[in-house]
Amino acid sequence: MKVDVLLGLQWGDEGKGKVVDYLAPKYNVVARFQGGPNAGHTLEFDGHKHVLHQIPSGIFRENIKNIIGNGVVLDPVVFKKEIEGLAKFEINLKANLFISKKTQLILPSHKLLDAAYEQSKGKNKIGSTLKGIGPSYQDKIARNGLRVGDILAPGFEERYRNLVSKHENTLKHYEFEYDLAAAEAPFFEAIEFLREFNLVNSEYLINKSIQSSDTVLAEGAQGSLLDIDFGSYPYVTSSNTMTAGACTGLGVAPQNIGEVFGIFKAYCTRVGGGPFPTELFDATGEAIQKEGNEFGATTGRARRCGWLDLPALKYAIMINGVTQLFMMKADVLSILDEIKICTAYKLSDGTITEEMPFQLLDEEVKPIYETLPGWKDDITGVRSMDDMPAALESYIKYIEEATGVPIKIVSVGPDRTQTVIN
Ligand code: GDP
Ligand code: IMO
Ligand code: MG
Repeated sequence: MKVDVLLGLQWGDEGKGKVVDYLAPKYNVVARFQGGPNAGHTLEFDGHKHVLHQIPSGIFRENIKNIIGNGVVLDPVVFKKEIEGLAKFEINLKANLFISKKTQLILPSHKLLDAAYEQSKGKNKIGSTLKGIGPSYQDKIARNGLRVGDILAPGFEERYRNLVSKHENTLKHYEFEYDLAAAEAPFFEAIEFLREFNLVNSEYLINKSIQSSDTVLAEGAQGSLLDIDFGSYPYVTSSNTMTAGACTGLGVAPQNIGEVFGIFKAYCTRVGGGPFPTELFDATGEAIQKEGNEFGATTGRARRCGWLDLPALKYAIMINGVTQLFMMKADVLSILDEIKICTAYKLSDGTITEEMPFQLLDEEVKPIYETLPGWKDDITGVRSMDDMPAALESYIKYIEEATGVPIKIVSVGPDRTQTVIN
């Protein structure tokens, strides 16, 4: 069977974790293909609220193989903590969790470099989660990185020391104080812990599933507007967050990609720095932030909020080949009398465009809005499209017509059950 891909179409935190957990029973395999502990995917079910960072969001469902793919960067310390946090759920991790030997490791010194780079950028800082993502991918591309499979071979510690001494040389060029030694004991403890798991050539696992009748769901992290190539560069993450990233991050041939599920919030949020044309700086923005509980699942930072941005959404649909849209957090907009949607941008030279410009700089890109009526109805208990308020149906139709892609799921709350099929 082909591999379905589920990914965020905005700046991350669209609700990917919730939907992967919801859809997981339909799949035999759930696989993460990029990113690392910068991700925070929230799942709510049976009164539990759980945030996953590196472990795929199919882990709470029975009999599903969860794979951490080669495109991921893995922090063993975060991994150990995450696994320990799962203990109360009595999950059979031996049967359900597999890690690619080609997954890159995040070293403690990668986190130091992340912090040093950010500090040196001053007011232009990216707003990184400081989890060592950029420096780890940097080592991968520079062909210096250490991979999960390397921990099984003799000489790992020596290779570690060699790489760390390179990092320390780099750190000398920054005014940055650090204590690496304190972080090393937990790191090596976590490496020992990691050895006990299924460390595999996951591209074979995935491709055997493709050859058989097994179904595979690839779970994206971050969102398309944070993609290293197509996002709001340089305010992006360091991986390809798009469908193509699932091919390289798992070893899946393009013709074996099936459905592409694009997840978006009924509005927009962004955490960290960088341009955000439809950002709201007023009471409406604050109200959305409060109602949507828009605080980061990884860093706890407040998420910036704004209106839905159709040019950006259409761009994300285009580069990902989205076949189905899922609209999240529709319930949050229930507080509003009217809702705006950005339909085009006016550029500083007066041009009106529906295309994403090279740079999304605030002074150059002004959103043009259409205003639609709000529904002002509590929809958190709705489970069928027949019971949706007419104004919400119109909002959905408007987006479907503008994008040409059907909205197949409407999410009306954080719980697994608060999910409506369209
Ligand atoms: P992810 O990174 O894409 O998995 O998303 P996050 O977990 O970082 O952020 C999404 C937040 O919205 C989490 O707190 C979810 O529990 C919550 N959430 C998901 N879907 C809905 C929804 O439909 N309505 C509301 N109110 N909250 C939701
Ligand atoms: P999930 O998977 C939202 C943002 C950071 C920062 C930029 C670079 O939960 O949707 P990095 O740590 O990668 O160097 O940060 O990207 N960012 C996210 N924003 N959701 C995420 O993941 C994010 N992962 C990174 O805030 O602006
Ligand atoms: Mg998140």
